[in-house]
Amino acid sequence: MANFELDKNNIPTHVAIIMDGNGRWAKAQGMERSMGHAKGTEMARRITEEATRLGVKYLTLYTFSTENWNRPPAEIAAIFTLLLDNLEEEVFIKNKVRLRVIGDLGRLPEEVQRRIQACMDHTADYDRTTMVVALSYSSRWELTEATKQIARQVKEGKIKEEDITDEYISSQLQTNFMPDPDLLIRTGGEKRISNYLLWQCAYSEFIFTDTYWPDFDEACFRDAIAEYQQRQRRFGKTGDQVEAEKK
Ligand code: IPE
Ligand code: IPE
Ligand code: MG
Repeated sequence: MANFELDKNNIPTHVAIIMDGNGRWAKAQGMERSMGHAKGTEMARRITEEATRLGVKYLTLYTFSTENWNRPPAEIAAIFTLLLDNLEEEVFIKNKVRLRVIGDLGRLPEEVQRRIQACMDHTADYDRTTMVVALSYSSRWELTEATKQIARQVKEGKIKEEDITDEYISSQLQTNFMPDPDLLIRTGGEKRISNYLLWQCAYSEFIFTDTYWPDFDEACFRDAIAEYQQRQRRFGKTGDQVEAEKK
């Protein structure tokens, strides 16, 4: 797509991205996989800045899944080194981007945990764009933890069984500070969700692209939003109902 204007009144509030294809990108260039992660990290920063320019409020980036702990230790170490190098408060502060993190953070190296906490503390008051990094995250883990938490609350008499509504479950998830994703993008060619935001994506629009994450630049991001803007979100209603409500 080339010349198009995005509809400023229909920018998705929350875009979630499965940033996949770093390793294959590197392999295709004859490089080590870690080089793909380095290039991918750089692209995450650029796409966050573009999201800020476009007015996307929440950008949730799948950075390291629970299942990724099964990768070779050297690759895991390379990913966390990159993360440490890139969690620079100055960059967040310059762009007025708030950092939040979801996932089983206790499993992360201590230095990473400390850096994340410092970065979150220093950016907590920014309200333009929030970059949510999913780290050691999986949706089934998150749902299991929430289920245990709710069971405890019932057992301790803090809530009753009938208090457990759809909204209540959402409020017990780590993502409770933001609305559900309007748009989920997966780069790298695979058409699967890989344990990401299963509950939250109940009504998200999905875009799968073959482009590897290190090549997914600002233009690709705007193309994805343009495609999103062509979709009719019906939430179970008929197309005619949705059209009538717009008027
Ligand atoms: C995504 O790229 C980044 C992480 C999962 C950490 P991959 O590393 O999965 O790249 P491919 O899928 O092997 O190309
Ligand atoms: C999903 O990518 C996780 C992240 C992008 C962090 P993977 O490359 O780990 O996904 P699968 O295992 O191929 O589905
Ligand atoms: Mg992958």
